[in-house]
Amino acid sequence: MILCTLILFSLLLMLPSSAAADDFLSDVPLGLDWVRVPHGNPITPGKVELGRRLFFDTQLSRDRSISCSSCHDPEHGWSIAAPFARGVAGRLGERNPPSIINTGLQHSLFWDGRAKTLEEQALEPIQNRVEMDMDLDALEERLAADPTYAAQFQAVFAGTVTAQRIAQALAAFERTLLAAETPYDLFRNGRATAMDDQMSRGSSVFFSRANCGDCHIAKVLSDHQFHDTGIGLEPKKIRTPMLRDLERTAPYMHDGSLSTLKDVVEYYDRGGNQREGLDVRMRPLKLTAEEKADLLYFLRAGLRSRTYPNGESAPGIDLPPNSP
Ligand code: HEC
Ligand code: HEC
Repeated sequence: MILCTLILFSLLLMLPSSAAADDFLSDVPLGLDWVRVPHGNPITPGKVELGRRLFFDTQLSRDRSISCSSCHDPEHGWSIAAPFARGVAGRLGERNPPSIINTGLQHSLFWDGRAKTLEEQALEPIQNRVEMDMDLDALEERLAADPTYAAQFQAVFAGTVTAQRIAQALAAFERTLLAAETPYDLFRNGRATAMDDQMSRGSSVFFSRANCGDCHIAKVLSDHQFHDTGIGLEPKKIRTPMLRDLERTAPYMHDGSLSTLKDVVEYYDRGGNQREGLDVRMRPLKLTAEEKADLLYFLRAGLRSRTYPNGESAPGIDLPPNSP
């Protein structure tokens, strides 16, 4: 026991201070885990405000036509209401934009998990040819030439406009976009009457009868792992999405190929598209019409957040005091 403690202690001492000192945003809506905040990018109200301004600003794209919100639109669950999004010059993307609500809780970003942090993620769409197609040096110059931006970066970072700080501000803003406190969350936290009878039946279809909870687990309803569920033309492992406020984010799946939640339920019920590499848990479920209706009701109403962040208001959480 003492030996274990000693080993643990010496391991802790060996960790680089940045890894040891990550902070957490603890004032999250009921039902969610705390949001990890990297040591190098503390959240402050000023930074969140700057991130919000950048997020809605079309100046981040080469021809000043596209903002982050063009594809992550608060009116459409911070996504869009079509399978694929158009970037600059009408160029069409190949994947459905995920909602970025609760994105600070993801363990990896993008449908294939290729980005590890929101800071790293943010610079990709800016430079991506079919999205914003903007050169980072040109972006720094463009924003630095705007005195209000220059002043805002100075106030938040005590420095000039840099691509890294643009990414940091965007990431800080995104970490405040949280929604939960659904009937499911309330029920899990001891409010026995939060779910009505049909929701309870739907939840037991979800977790028992249909085994959705094999992959959509824990508080956020994702195992943060990658599986081939048969979607898309080629076998591909995709990160299990978190599931909340689904009514706002149709269409579904990484290619937006399922238009409604009813289509999703039917898709799983028939066991997905059979192919090599299909996850073994994908098999015909043979749900009755009533089980399907209950499951659908749970997905719609049981996972509906009490409040939902819109584009304008302050985040629904208290931020730490303003300090750089
Ligand atoms: C032209 C449309 C478009 C624009 C503009 C755009 N995105 Fe996205 N975004 C997408 C698509 C599509 C994906 C998924 C791509 C993939 O998985 O390969 C995505 C993924 C993301 C993710 C990952 C979410 C997750 O759950 O993994 C975040 C975060 C994000 N975008 C933030 C931003 C930010 C910040 C900006 C602005 C700097 C931005 N996006 C601009 C379309 C867009
Ligand atoms: C083997 C793991 C696994 C099981 C079992 C599973 N899912 Fe999924 N789910 C995933 C993955 C992975 C995706 C993303 C697939 C893609 O986009 O190609 C997904 C996507 C979804 C989506 C779309 C979310 C969005 O934002 O587009 C919904 C809704 C969903 N699942 C509900 C369910 C329900 C209901 C069940 C049970 C009937 C279920 N899942 C069973 C792994 C699983």
